[in-house]
Amino acid sequence: MKAAIIGYGGIAVTHEQVLKSLGHEIVAVCDNDPKKLERADAPLKFLDYREMLDSISADVVHICTPHYLHADMIICALSRNFNVLCEKPLCIKEEDVERIAKVEKNSKGQLGICFQNRYNPINVYIKNYLEGKTLKCATASMVWNRDEKYYATAKWRGKWATEGGGVLINQSIHTLDLLLWFAGMPEYIRATVDNIRTKDFIEVEDTAVISGYGKAPFTFFATNSSAVNYPVEFTLNVDGVWLKYFNNILYIGDKAITFEEATKAYGKSEYGSGHTGLIADFYDCIGTGRKFEIDAFEAAKAVKVVFAAFKSSKTENKIIL
Ligand SMILES: NC(=O)c1ccc[n+]([C@@H]2O[C@H](COP(=O)([O-])OP(=O)(O)OC[C@H]3O[C@@H](n4cnc5c(N)ncnc54)[C@H](O)[C@@H]3O)[C@@H](O)[C@H]2O)c1
Repeated sequence: MKAAIIGYGGIAVTHEQVLKSLGHEIVAVCDNDPKKLERADAPLKFLDYREMLDSISADVVHICTPHYLHADMIICALSRNFNVLCEKPLCIKEEDVERIAKVEKNSKGQLGICFQNRYNPINVYIKNYLEGKTLKCATASMVWNRDEKYYATAKWRGKWATEGGGVLINQSIHTLDLLLWFAGMPEYIRATVDNIRTKDFIEVEDTAVISGYGKAPFTFFATNSSAVNYPVEFTLNVDGVWLKYFNNILYIGDKAITFEEATKAYGKSEYGSGHTGLIADFYDCIGTGRKFEIDAFEAAKAVKVVFAAFKSSKTENKIIL
């Protein structure tokens, strides 16, 4: 099939490598930085994404730009009836959730959001394991390092206006999405969000704790203030049995199951190997007309909890979802 990419920075290269490995053709690339376009390998190159969308024919448009651009770019491409695969997060403003959902409903194109960790074999196994059982409670944590050097790599990072938050809306949104995938949406949350280590060079939070209350209460801890990246951890209580997830090993009671990556990983190690599975699935949905699971409704869950966490921390109140 024919693909076009908007935003040819870090993650776009992963999309490009996956597309090539799956045998799809990249017909056009857009980046507003001419230097980025120089290294792009595509017959058509554009500095303006609207101009690109008005002049190309493509089966899927990939959006790989900074967070603050996602909502307008998704809306622009969906309203031209393109199928759109956008990097996380869905958006950074509460009002954009509805705007996107409305346009998605009226478009002939499908929208997919890149929560590629849902395709990791260990996560698929847990999701299937939960079928017909009761998840009583859960906890998840992501303890990573994002230092001054990382934030200097692009001006949009570390700012409320362009990144829309820090550890919550960027790095740990994958872990939060998995937690919500397993546990469902909470009825309400309470949260504390702070900047512990990175105050001198970013505006946004580097640490957050969220307590979710509902059928399956959860606690979620995320920080970028660590000296190193630790593997993400989950602990779930399913019908009284403890499941512990660490470094691709799943402990169920006293049994340990080791998982291999299902597909080749492209890009940085923290991206994982899920992009291949997710992109292949999205293209299969487009080819067959099947509905892609991670649409605007599904992807909105994690950002809704993130927005609620910011509000709860600011007001010191519980926020109903
Ligand atoms: N799923 C994952 O694991 C994962 C990993 C990394 C990044 N991401 C996401 O991918 C997105 C991009 O992140 P990145 O690390 O590649 O950032 P980046 O800064 O490396 O790349 C962004 C690119 O977008 C371009 N751009 C900016 N404004 C533009 C515009 N108006 N029109 C066209 N191009 C424009 C920039 O020039 C740059 O080349 C973010 O949403 C990020 O959260 C996801």
